Amino acid sequence: MRILVTGGAGFIGSHTVDLLLSRGHTVRVLDALEPPVHAERRRPDYLPAEAEFILGDVRDRAAWERALAGVDAVFHLAAYQDYLPDFSKFFHVNVVSTALLYEVVVERRLPVQKIVVAASQAVYGEGKYRRADGSAVYPGQRPAEQLARHAWDLLDPETGAVLTPDVTDEAVVHPHNSYAMSKYTEEQIALNLGRRYGLPSVAMRYSIVQGARQSFRNAYSGALRIFAMQCLAGERPLIYEDGQQLRDYVYVGDVARANLLVLEDPRADYQAFNVGAGRAWTVLEFARIMAEAAGRPDLEPRLPGEYRFGDTRHITSDTRRLQALGWEPRGHPAQSAREYLDWAVRQPDFGNYTAAAREHMKQVGAVKA
Ligand SMILES: NC(=O)c1ccc[n+]([C@@H]2O[C@H](COP(=O)([O-])OP(=O)(O)OC[C@H]3O[C@@H](n4cnc5c(N)ncnc54)[C@H](O)[C@@H]3O)[C@@H](O)[C@H]2O)c1
Repeated sequence: MRILVTGGAGFIGSHTVDLLLSRGHTVRVLDALEPPVHAERRRPDYLPAEAEFILGDVRDRAAWERALAGVDAVFHLAAYQDYLPDFSKFFHVNVVSTALLYEVVVERRLPVQKIVVAASQAVYGEGKYRRADGSAVYPGQRPAEQLARHAWDLLDPETGAVLTPDVTDEAVVHPHNSYAMSKYTEEQIALNLGRRYGLPSVAMRYSIVQGARQSFRNAYSGALRIFAMQCLAGERPLIYEDGQQLRDYVYVGDVARANLLVLEDPRADYQAFNVGAGRAWTVLEFARIMAEAAGRPDLEPRLPGEYRFGDTRHITSDTRRLQALGWEPRGHPAQSAREYLDWAVRQPDFGNYTAAAREHMKQVGAVKA
């Protein structure tokens, strides 16, 4: 097949491109080489020469028209993701681009057979919890005043009792920040317009994806990048809250395989799928995994009581819907950590940017003490 991958110069996109090429597909990438992911704004070395590259912005209709010519299927992975309060940009990039994709395909009657869009585990907000009596509850965000008291657990809004985290399936969404709202709207556009116009479409709700080529400049890249930078600089990893947050870290190779599975399997059409590891690690556990992978198991994590307002307390995806199609996660965070470190130390501009990023996040109110 001839396949367009938007955001194909990025982390998940480039791994998806590699797998598509290895399976004999023809690949075209549409990417704007956005900073901070692409500091030098040039085609990254890891992108294979066989992949055709179009420099263009997914907010630009003409870029879509050019990129979609002669294409059988699309992975729409380009996105704006950050913790900054520039709310409208999330919608311009993530939502308008998706509407434009369907607009151009429908208006021009292009023979596109499949569209896969990148959604996110973020659509669940705090996800699914259980009360003591076993009933399910989907709590809202923890209030600022509760976090200021360093009371981290989710509480039952009716009784105030501490809730127990459950795995979160695809049924109920609760997006509560601009990124999550934009990603949920993106998937609604894909699934609803896809069905209406007979364009098989799939939304992939990735959890925390890890592996080589994850931007070390983008503050959104999270724990993998932060702990790697700190450990390689000989600094103890700095952990928010109490480190007991549950996280679902999925290996990027597993994500690329999931992408190809839904491309090829019509049973996936018009559905949203969780793509996660199917189990959780605490942030503290992951910091130790990274310290070990960096050869510095002596770097005991620091817990100064800082927190990021708007962070999810616990979230683990239920991946049974995707597993029913024959996919299973195989990677482990230790593998992601090793592969990331091997890649990162070979990058000329790799360094420890975490202190400056944290300072900036504190200034804009995203990190609090
Ligand atoms: N990495 C994760 O853990 C994760 C989790 C959930 C969802 N996702 C989603 O998966 C997708 C890929 O994420 P990633 O981690 O590979 O991101 P990334 O930042 O590594 O790559 C995104 C790519 O999109 C490009 N891009 C950004 N804005 C663009 C624009 N306006 N026009 C054209 N290209 C543009 C960037 O230059 C970059 O190459 C995104 O849609 C993201 O929201 C990622």
